[in-house]
Amino acid sequence: MMLKLDGIIGGSSALAQVFKVLAKVAPTDSTVLVTGESGTGKELLVRALHRNSTRRDNAFVPINCGAIPRELLESELFGHEKGAFTHAIRTRPGRFELADGGTIFLDEIGEMDLSLQVKILRALQEKEIERVGGTCVKKVDVRVVAATNRDLEEEVRTGRFREDLFYRLNVIPLHLPPLRERGGDILLLAQHFLSSHCKTKDRKPLTLSERAREMLLTYSWPGNVRELENFMERLSILCDAGEVTPEDLPDKMFHDIGEKPLRKVVEVESLRPAGFVWPTLKDMEDKGLKLKDFIETIEGRLLEEALDQCDGVKNKAAEMVGIKRTTLIEKLKKRDLL
Ligand SMILES: Nc1ncnc2c1ncn2[C@@H]1O[C@H](COP(=O)(O)OP(=O)(O)OP(=O)(O)O)[C@@H](O)[C@H]1O
Ligand SMILES: [Mg+2]
Repeated sequence: MMLKLDGIIGGSSALAQVFKVLAKVAPTDSTVLVTGESGTGKELLVRALHRNSTRRDNAFVPINCGAIPRELLESELFGHEKGAFTHAIRTRPGRFELADGGTIFLDEIGEMDLSLQVKILRALQEKEIERVGGTCVKKVDVRVVAATNRDLEEEVRTGRFREDLFYRLNVIPLHLPPLRERGGDILLLAQHFLSSHCKTKDRKPLTLSERAREMLLTYSWPGNVRELENFMERLSILCDAGEVTPEDLPDKMFHDIGEKPLRKVVEVESLRPAGFVWPTLKDMEDKGLKLKDFIETIEGRLLEEALDQCDGVKNKAAEMVGIKRTTLIEKLKKRDLL
């Protein structure tokens, strides 16, 4: 079978291994567990899995288990009957039912609550689900694919993930290697993202200097492909020349590869606008504050100033900074300004 991998870029042997397993597993109905650090392309891979399966003409239903509160997640997954809880004004099918005949993608499964894990296990084993507040079970024909950036074996050891569910999900493990282990793919991807972002900005494609390329290859890419893409987008906006050179690369990249950052030719100070200057990390450190307190302090000063200008009339001050009067009062109380 020819794999359709439109959208997944890379020719490294690490990725080729993944594609090899993908080709074998895609046409089956097996449960697949995709692991890999954040930004390695897990979602892209799962979509490719569905596209290359016999279920491709049926639904692909993703659900991010880490983004939905526990109480809602159960009814999202399994649906609910009218009256099952306060806001259940009508019967609603869950994602498992919507995915009937197709694939359900349980993203960030590692974030799922233990009590829900039992229900997923049951859906997997019995191939049937029960709506919240329901009295009968429904058969569903769904392929389950799950993904996580956690080490689920470790989660099992520490009791945060059910062992039985882990083995049931991990029938076919697919591990996406971090970008730093994909060698030349880094440059393939960099060039791809650079040219596509330059294109959308209507500028000539930027090239990468030899030294810049070496640095991209050595950097550890903790945010993987997502970080690389965002970084290339930034370059497509900020880089004025036709070629990306080490001067365009951020200090943290130098630190990461164990080199001293270049002294930038242009004095940063002289680039600052005469009027407004954004606070910097140094300002924060100089004040001896952490992020939250620093921001609170800035907010407090702005509120005081607004009150001053409005002669203490809270309605006006609130309007001036664009918040509700009640919110302003709450904020002032918190700061003992009231
Ligand atoms: N091999 C690749 N080729 C092209 N684009 C890629 C590749 N891998 C990832 N991407 C892009 O990088 C971004 C992150 O990928 P994706 O969302 O699939 O990662 P993820 O592993 O699910 O991340 P997270 O754990 O943070 O959810 C997406 O915009 C995706 O299109
Ligand atoms: Mg993801």
